[in-house]
Amino acid sequence: MKFMKLKNSLQTKIGIYFILFALVIINSIGWVLYYQSEKYFDEELGINLQYIAKASAKLVDSDLFSYLKIGSERGKFYKSLSEPLRKLQKSFGLKRVYIVNNHYNLLLDSDPNGKVGETIPHLESNLVELQMSKKGAAVRSTLYRAYDGKLYKSAFAPVKNKKGKVVALACVDASPAYLNVINKIEDFVLLLNLISLITAILISLLLARTIVNPIKALAAAAQRVSKGNYEIPVQIKSKDELGFLGNIFNLMQENIRGNEQKVKELSAAVAHEIRNPLNSISLYLGLLKRTLKRENQSVESVEKIQKEIETLNNIVADFLYFSRRPELKKTKFKVSELFEESLFLANDKIIRKKIEVKTVIIPQNLMVNGDKTQLKQAVLNLIINGVQAMDCCGKLELSAFDKEGKINIQIIDNGSGIEGKNIKKIFEPFFSKRSNGTGLGLAIVSNIIAQHNGTIIVESKVGHGAKFLIRLPYEEAV
Ligand SMILES: Nc1ncnc2c1ncn2[C@@H]1O[C@H](COP(=O)(O)OP(=O)(O)OP(=O)(O)O)[C@@H](O)[C@H]1O
Ligand SMILES: [Mg+2]
Repeated sequence: MKFMKLKNSLQTKIGIYFILFALVIINSIGWVLYYQSEKYFDEELGINLQYIAKASAKLVDSDLFSYLKIGSERGKFYKSLSEPLRKLQKSFGLKRVYIVNNHYNLLLDSDPNGKVGETIPHLESNLVELQMSKKGAAVRSTLYRAYDGKLYKSAFAPVKNKKGKVVALACVDASPAYLNVINKIEDFVLLLNLISLITAILISLLLARTIVNPIKALAAAAQRVSKGNYEIPVQIKSKDELGFLGNIFNLMQENIRGNEQKVKELSAAVAHEIRNPLNSISLYLGLLKRTLKRENQSVESVEKIQKEIETLNNIVADFLYFSRRPELKKTKFKVSELFEESLFLANDKIIRKKIEVKTVIIPQNLMVNGDKTQLKQAVLNLIINGVQAMDCCGKLELSAFDKEGKINIQIIDNGSGIEGKNIKKIFEPFFSKRSNGTGLGLAIVSNIIAQHNGTIIVESKVGHGAKFLIRLPYEEAV
């Protein structure tokens, strides 16, 4: 079974959701605070500016405005008239206090650079307020950004003559210091958001870790169990639900381990009990065969019984393999030894059927790194299957070579071959087409090869024999 690869998805999801959630909350709070405080400051300043505008409107004598001409600002008369405006500007720390006529041309200015008759560009942003002021009201503007890109806040008050007619407008511009306060609040909110973003990221990392790491440990443990490894317990230290789950998991592993141990002991005991009488029956049959030498028929019967016993013994050995699943004991050895020793064990059967055996190993001293006993069992099973599939005088070829970083081992026979519909089934336990076969042979072979991280494939055509190809990783086999 293939396991899908996890890409920290849960961890990332938890992190992102938490950060988004925290950001929305913190940002909203930050901006609400910002707008509230800005509104408050704005309101306060607006009221003050309005008062100052009213006061400045009363500081000047409107009857004297008619004496002001272009260029008057250079004379003493203008200076004495604008002096009170300058004082007001200084004492309240304002940006500018000035008087304009009804066409918005400058009459008097606290700013020494002001010129009589000039227009004040930023007033264009306040035409509505100026109109209202012309009608007799003191008005304050909202905070606005003029065409020069700077922030302004102004207030206007009507300057009336003795008859109560509005002849000019007193204008007051707020100081940059006030605007700085607003800017500082904005900076503060941005800083607050940045700090909270970093804190949210740190908390989410921590949160994701405490949840995701135990889940990862559990997933890894479950994967180990699925591969038949029940030895390593999961380590989850937290005392929450995940810790509880980890403990239950470990308990479950222990139970499985206990049961597995019991099954192993039981099957070993059963195998032992069966093998002992089998061995003594075999021994007595040997004796009987010698005493019955002359009576040919009886000898034949005894031989048949002996063959059956051998079959029974093999079955017991196969079952034992599955119940014990011996650990790999890896060593480096020559492939030629593997072939020679496996062929030796199958020698009787090979000779009986007069099979012609050919071995090809390239290079001659090709080495393999693996469990010799188990690989020998795998090769032997394949040889025996091949021999069983052939009648008299068949051909069996064993070859080995290295290709694409793998050691390739082939066992080829020219026997009966395997039907297409059975090809997929032959590696399944208990699949057998032979009357006295258990169907465990190839299941054991594929198990041994998988344990060596190798693969096994088969090619066959009915009537033309079969080719089994084992590929083992090369890097370990130097
Ligand atoms: N080289 C081969 N040629 C033809 N058929 C084969 C060959 N190898 C395996 N088979 C088929 O695959 C089946 C399963 O093989 P497997 O070795 O698993 O079991 P078995 O040989 O029947 O029994 P056991 O090996 O347990 O004595 C065999 O019964 C046979 O039909
Ligand atoms: Mg077999």
